[in-house]
Amino acid sequence: MVNTKVDLSRMARAETHGENSPYFAGWKAYDCNPYDPMLNPSGIIQMGLAENQVCSDLLEEWIDQHPEALSMKNKIPNFKEVALHQDYHGLSIFRKALARFMEEIRGGRVKFDPDKIVLTAGATAANEILTFCIANPGDALLIPTPYYPGFDRDLRWRTGAHIIPVHCTSKTGFEITLQALEQAYQDAQLQGKRVKALLITNPSNPLGQTLKASAIHQILDFVSQKSIHLICDEIYSGTVFNPSSPFVSISEIIPKSKNTNPKSIHIVYSLSKDLGVPGFRVGAICSQNDEILTTSRRMSSFSLISSQTQAILTSMLLDMEFMRRYMVMSKKRLRERHERLVGGLREMGIECLEGGSGLFCFVNLRHLLERESWEGEMRLWEVVLNDVGLNVSPGSSFHCEEPGWFRVCFGNMSQEALDVALQRIRDYFMVHGKRVEVVGGGSSVGWATSAMDVDQQAEPQDLVII
Ligand SMILES: Cc1ncc(COP(=O)(O)O)c(C=O)c1O
Repeated sequence: MVNTKVDLSRMARAETHGENSPYFAGWKAYDCNPYDPMLNPSGIIQMGLAENQVCSDLLEEWIDQHPEALSMKNKIPNFKEVALHQDYHGLSIFRKALARFMEEIRGGRVKFDPDKIVLTAGATAANEILTFCIANPGDALLIPTPYYPGFDRDLRWRTGAHIIPVHCTSKTGFEITLQALEQAYQDAQLQGKRVKALLITNPSNPLGQTLKASAIHQILDFVSQKSIHLICDEIYSGTVFNPSSPFVSISEIIPKSKNTNPKSIHIVYSLSKDLGVPGFRVGAICSQNDEILTTSRRMSSFSLISSQTQAILTSMLLDMEFMRRYMVMSKKRLRERHERLVGGLREMGIECLEGGSGLFCFVNLRHLLERESWEGEMRLWEVVLNDVGLNVSPGSSFHCEEPGWFRVCFGNMSQEALDVALQRIRDYFMVHGKRVEVVGGGSSVGWATSAMDVDQQAEPQDLVII
């Protein structure tokens, strides 16, 4: 008999990919029954995907008007430059265009040297590469909670590094306090782990908030004092739609901060969110550290961006008139979607964390939990997914410290779909009342639910709607 058992490596089998989470399960549920206004009007509406589709029409229009961008005849780069060997520096013309775009997003207040940019297949690869460069297996990176669930995979799975949460709570508006940073540092030491870096996401996923300059200064002081690296994931930098909470990039603060070693600060960027092209897989690491740059460039061999993608995007990014119009429209439409969602929820007595950036808002549904527990949150998530028909992501999947918070995305859907989603919530709670109670019993949920421990599983319990 043929032995069909395939033995995978210990690392491949490790749970550190973090995919045993309602964040990913919700996507699968959506894939099985996707909402379509005509073909499947009772399907699940996808509100768990941080995708910027609000200006896809402008991108398509630009492609229609610029067929030469897709053609490789009589062009720079020409066919041979695109089709033949690509070294891991990528096309220099593309790095220049990307640097310029990043400068534009930062209001022209900073300059990026294209030679200090390493291209990667998205921010996913950029974050992993930086972790690989900085941390040995067993070392730790600090990350303020709540944080993007993909970090569990990107930073840990292949590198063997650990994540130590910096516990931020709603009491302080999820602010990254010095006390919380110090506590996380001590937690790592108590666990015998060497802290190599702090990773911050600005603007934040899932909070949809920007960091104030004063907060960034404090963070810089902390990393300088501890002599650790700082990774700044600025993937949402172009989604800031509320001018009263502007985006301040770490690149603007570094020159003003006396104690900072610029060689220990690294920026991660990507076109996935600002330009809404996650399928193109375009990311970057910007750093002043030559050793990090050289090693990252070597590592990027595993995650290059196809030359053709670089060539198309070079033409688009260099069309400054189009790019400026795109950015203005994207922010305007994001703001409209945000106002519609937040306003609609508020009418139902549901509050959102104040936010002015990103493709989502962080919604407080604590009052809908009969008991404040991770099990209660999981039950509510199941109800919202299966009975209301919306895929939203529970705070536990972002390692939020308090049950009852949910990330709700609005950038990937039409106004009409958003209205249908709001109507579904209204209808459901009109019929079923407002609270979801958890009582002891035996249903089948087994997701990691605790903000502290991703491996901890929920106790199965029954759900009663009252
Ligand atoms: C904070 C953050 N970093 C990185 C990523 C991954 O982005 P990319 O598609 O560029 O790999 C995401 C995607 O949601 C994100 O939210």
